[in-house]
Amino acid sequence: MPTKVILDVDTGTDDAVALMVAALSPDLDLVGATSVNGNTTIDNTTENTLRVFDWIGRPEVPVHRGCDRPLARTQAEQLNPARRIHGTLLDLPPASRGAALQPGHAVDWLIDTYLASDGDIVLCPVGPLTNVAMAIQKEPRILEAIPQIVIMGGAHDHGNSTPSAEFNIWLDPEAARIVVNCGRPIRMIPLDATHRALVSVDDAARLRALGTPAGEAAARFVLKRIDGYDATQPMPHRAGAAPVHDALAVCSIIDPSIVTTEFIPVDVEVNAELSVGRTVCDFRFRGGKPANVEFAIDADEPRFVAMLLEILGRTA
Ligand code: RIB
Ligand code: CA
Repeated sequence: MPTKVILDVDTGTDDAVALMVAALSPDLDLVGATSVNGNTTIDNTTENTLRVFDWIGRPEVPVHRGCDRPLARTQAEQLNPARRIHGTLLDLPPASRGAALQPGHAVDWLIDTYLASDGDIVLCPVGPLTNVAMAIQKEPRILEAIPQIVIMGGAHDHGNSTPSAEFNIWLDPEAARIVVNCGRPIRMIPLDATHRALVSVDDAARLRALGTPAGEAAARFVLKRIDGYDATQPMPHRAGAAPVHDALAVCSIIDPSIVTTEFIPVDVEVNAELSVGRTVCDFRFRGGKPANVEFAIDADEPRFVAMLLEILGRTA
């Protein structure tokens, strides 16, 4: 039986690949997607999500628009996207085959969907955790209906938005702290894993050679990411390749063995000036707290790329 999943996305280029993997994998049943402010504005992340589903021939996947700003912080720089890596609107045509925004706020749809569910829908947030935190705060009863939360976010060894923090956590640290401490099973796919599963220019050529809508789009997005990373945050010793963070999180739902994890205590810094948004990982259990997160410390790059090629070679 396919695994039911909901993606919460701030659709930019890697969210787009994650959405296509979730929509085309025979191992997943994509119940819907919710958009959030992050890589770009909520208008753009919502429009981009619709364009992706329309482009791959899955216009029926319900999309609900979510929060347009973080829970507690609206510092200007936090709303300023990483334009070079994501742009604003994806290089896909506007939806023309039926993909349409569903009425109602994403937070309310998440609450209604989980309360009505059989407790079998994995929640996979791959952007700032604003929608998820707000849904938990508004209706805590949904927690018992969420079997697992698979988060793309966090970092132990090095940040990307700051020396200490990864973007999804940094943009809304208050939301991240709520979710990380919600008590449900959490798998976190941080930069420590995503930076060990890079997709290269040659891989982009293989994606394009698939001859499918998803393969073409993924090639465009990967090449844009490589351009952006090479220009702004080059991968050590790996020019011509870039992480596709969010897609690794989705692939880890299909095959958990694609990442190596440790079950440890993790919390989120919300007060410190230099390290706000840092996922504080207690690998040696020095804090006296129980483990709450399955934290990925490595990933299998060849298998990740092979999964992308296999899944994105499919058509709806
Ligand atoms: O730090 C990487 C994460 O931030 C990814 O989810 C990317 O899409 C951005 O949201
Ligand atoms: Ca994202």
